[in-house]
Amino acid sequence: MTRALVVYESMFGNARAVAQAIADGLSATVPTDVVAAAEAPAEIPADVGLLVVGGPNHAFSMPRPATRQSAVTQHGADVADTSRGLREWLAAVHAPTRGLPAAAFDTRVAGHPALTRMDHAARATEKLLGKLGTRVAAPAEHFAVADTRGPLVAGEQDRARRWGRELAERVHTTAAS
Ligand SMILES: Cc1cc2nc3c(=O)[nH]c(=O)nc-3n(C[C@H](O)[C@H](O)[C@H](O)COP(=O)(O)O)c2cc1C
Repeated sequence: MTRALVVYESMFGNARAVAQAIADGLSATVPTDVVAAAEAPAEIPADVGLLVVGGPNHAFSMPRPATRQSAVTQHGADVADTSRGLREWLAAVHAPTRGLPAAAFDTRVAGHPALTRMDHAARATEKLLGKLGTRVAAPAEHFAVADTRGPLVAGEQDRARRWGRELAERVHTTAAS
């Protein structure tokens, strides 16, 4: 694997911090770029051997234009363009080959396990990754924020770093065997 790419969407910076921590962990094994969905390439570069994507849970799924607008008007998020994010990027991006290893993550408000099980952002992300022709490299991971604007719950950035490190090792080992 030549390079890993982490693409994220974030309203208040929490999923961005998780994406950066995951990239730190991946970097122990493989050079890694991290980029916001709004600035992500229209085609996944051919030297990318692992794609990691994620963002916040909004209304039990991935953000949509209306939920991004709510983040701005109701919670003071600073989002330049509410019409496009991770969902729209995944629906439009081209992958040069089938079977690219990929994994999803999301952020969600810490709460009762029964409630958090209802949140589907990472599941929706995995469906879009499947349509793109990628191969699930590891089950999606979820990271908790204390409230809508954050902050991340203590220890979550370290956990994201560890998850990134383990993910890169797993993909590296699979590719070598
Ligand atoms: C419009 C809106 C809807 C949300 N819906 C949910 C939800 O269904 N479940 C949940 O756990 N958190 C929900 N949240 C909280 C977000 O998950 C939280 O703001 C996000 O994880 C913070 O990450 P970010 O700073 O990267 O945006 C919602 C937030 C907003 C603004």
